[in-house]
Order: sequence, then C-alpha cells, then structure tokens
Amino acid sequence: MTTLKIITASTRPGRVGPVVGTWIEQRARAHQGFATVELVDLAEVGLPFMNEPHHPSLGDYTHQHTRDWSARVSAADALVFVMPEYNNGYNAELKNAIDYLHHEWHYKPVGLVSYGGISGGTRAAQAVRQVVTTLRMVPVAEAVAIPFVHRFIDNAELHPNALMTGAADAMLTELARVADVLTGLRAARV
Ligand SMILES: Cc1cc2nc3c(=O)[nH]c(=O)nc-3n(C[C@H](O)[C@H](O)[C@H](O)COP(=O)(O)O)c2cc1C
Repeated sequence: MTTLKIITASTRPGRVGPVVGTWIEQRARAHQGFATVELVDLAEVGLPFMNEPHHPSLGDYTHQHTRDWSARVSAADALVFVMPEYNNGYNAELKNAIDYLHHEWHYKPVGLVSYGGISGGTRAAQAVRQVVTTLRMVPVAEAVAIPFVHRFIDNAELHPNALMTGAADAMLTELARVADVLTGLRAARV
C-alpha cells in the first residue's frame, strides 16, 4: 500500500487550486488504493526561489527548507500535481518546487490534474511532462483536465461532472498500479 501526496501548485491570493486539490484528496481517500493520502500546499511549503548552491543530484542541501521539502517528497510513493494553466504553461512555483530536488522524484508515478479556461490546463500538463520525465518520473496517461474551472465551483467547493469524476478515478487507479511496480524499481536502485 502506497503513500500518495497531492501537491497543490498555485500559491496566489484568491487561487482556486486548494478547492480542486481538496476534491482530488477526497476522491483519493474514497478510492482505497493508497494507505496514506496527504494534501501538500505549495503556498504553505513556502519555498523561496531556488537558492541552493549545489546541484540537487548531490543531495548536499544547505537550507532547512530544502531538507524539509526533500523529506516530504521522499516519503511519497505516488504524486498528483494539481496545476493551473498560466500563459499556456504551468506556474513558476511548481517548476521551482520540482527543481529543488532530484533523486527524490525518481521512479515515482505522477497524475496530472490541470485546470484553466477552454484548454482545461492541457497545455500546462503537456509542458510539465517533459520536465518530470527528465527526472525519471512516470506521468500516467490518465489525467484530469477541468475547462472553465470557475463554473464548477460554488461555495468554495468543486461540483464535478461525471466526466471529471470518471477521469479522476481512472487516474487514481492507474497511479496505484504503476506505484506498485515502481516501488520495486526504487528498492533495486544502486
Ligand atoms: C497569470 C495568469 C495566466 C493565465 N493564463 C491562462 C492560460 O494561458 N490559459 C488558461 O486557460 N487560463 C489562464 N489563466 C486563467 C487561470 O487558469 C485561472 O485564473 C485559474 O483560476 C488559475 O488557477 P489558480 O486560481 O489556482 O491560480 C491565467 C491566470 C493567471 C493568473
């Protein structure tokens, strides 16, 4: 049984990211494919812009915020990125949080939950795939894309349609399957 960490990427005041993140967290808990489910808010993590002097692959971290972030990501067997689309890409805080670490991401599956306007954040999701695969993460094919996300939010709650819930459950099922296999690969790593 695996530990799933759901990372809410947007950090700006008035963001909708935590609403989407809370919805995915609830579905992940109901899914029962994960022993532990944790919602991680990048606004609360509060990383400054990357300020480590050494390449992250060395793991030679000089700041406590990096060691804390490293410990949180290391404890994950699977991840979900809940990510907005900003200017046809994903938000800078997510890239910053990814860049801080290296081995901590290796051979971990990631599910992408994107949102935005008409594109449903799919351009942001596509952009992050080339970054996470460089870090040997495995993005699962099943993904959630929420177009016109504000139309699905009322009273600070997401009210998903059947397509969204179906996509979320399919993504979580695939994440759990791939996580099982990759756990062995991480253990075998020299
Ligand atoms: C700086 C900025 C750029 C944006 N660019 C896009 C975009 O390229 N495509 C899109 O669909 N929505 C875009 N939007 C709309 C966002 O998807 C929408 O505001 C969403 O709520 C942002 O997520 P957040 O509230 O969690 O920050 C942009 C919003 C901001 C603040």
